[in-house]
Amino acid sequence: MLPFIRSDLAQLTAYTPHPETAEQPLQVDQLDTNECPYDLPEHLKQKLAWNYQHQILANRYPDGGHLALKQAIASYVTETCTTSYGVDSISVGNGSDELIRSLLIATCVGGKGSILVAAPTFSMYGILAQTLGIEVVTVDRHDNFSMDLEAAQAAISNPSGSPIRTVFVVHPNSPTGNPLTKAEVEWLQSLPEEILVVLDEAYFEFSQQTLAAEAQKHPNWVVLRTFSKAFRLAAHRVGYAISSPELTQVLEKVRLPYNLPSMSLAAATLAMAERDELLQTIPEVIAERDRLYQALSQFSNLQLWPSAANFIYLRSFTAEATAKLAQDLKRQGTSIRHTGGGLRVTIGSPEENQRTLDHLKMALLG
Ligand SMILES: Cc1ncc(COP(=O)(O)O)c(C=O)c1O
Repeated sequence: MLPFIRSDLAQLTAYTPHPETAEQPLQVDQLDTNECPYDLPEHLKQKLAWNYQHQILANRYPDGGHLALKQAIASYVTETCTTSYGVDSISVGNGSDELIRSLLIATCVGGKGSILVAAPTFSMYGILAQTLGIEVVTVDRHDNFSMDLEAAQAAISNPSGSPIRTVFVVHPNSPTGNPLTKAEVEWLQSLPEEILVVLDEAYFEFSQQTLAAEAQKHPNWVVLRTFSKAFRLAAHRVGYAISSPELTQVLEKVRLPYNLPSMSLAAATLAMAERDELLQTIPEVIAERDRLYQALSQFSNLQLWPSAANFIYLRSFTAEATAKLAQDLKRQGTSIRHTGGGLRVTIGSPEENQRTLDHLKMALLG
């Protein structure tokens, strides 16, 4: 370890999105990062290319105020949660990953607080916290993956280190696909104002369940969403936060001045304008998820959980068998995410899903 580097970083391993194995075939179905299986339609790519050729000046910094995009997002958010939001409630990040980091900087850095997560959940909360030297308090989930609220409350009431300043939840959770229960929502609503509730709705367009209206009722709530999933823009790295104008101003202070490249701003603004067309694939993804779930439930040696998102979480009956299943799938050309002791399988195109099924059959039945 380099002597000038913080010693706590030695324990940390970098996030590897698509770990490669020596045995994997050349053609792999990328079903490990929950993207939409379809690229942007050709005519929208052409519009973006035109934009690059005729409107974007490569020698100039991007629009650091993001006003046009924030206006478009505010009207989309208003439409989706029937609560009116203006641009002063929207902050835009280089993926929601950047917003997660900004929230950590704003709440916990410098020994000011630790974060609470219920495992398994999205790994970046913990990874980003650790890179900033922030303690991560982890509580368990029940068999249906709802949070152990007693343990969560106890962790808040009796902190072992610095007080818990931020609670991260995903709705529906990744990797397990379950939306928040009424009891979980009520518990989050009961948290005192000195604790920030980060409600991550990365999969909102698939679940159609949103608590975005809560950010207007509670100054200690922030809702995160992303363009990386349903809006098919993972390559462009755009996410947004919905919060009180006061918290939005803090997020604006903390971010880098030109955090979004011009092409990404243009792509996200276009996606907002063309949202009806882009979201037309959602019913297909949901129908495919239900078809895959039905087919997988025929395997007696798989444990499955219902999902409100664009992925399904499953386990074999032992940790070893689950790990072997992940390897067998990868070897056959289906890349899924092995996390939290289970496998998170993204819903792909009908052809990809059929291959997932065939490869699982081959791995389980031989
Ligand atoms: C729950 C959750 N939040 C946030 C993200 C990151 O989104 P972005 O691509 O906007 O950084 C992901 C990506 O997988 C996710 O699953």
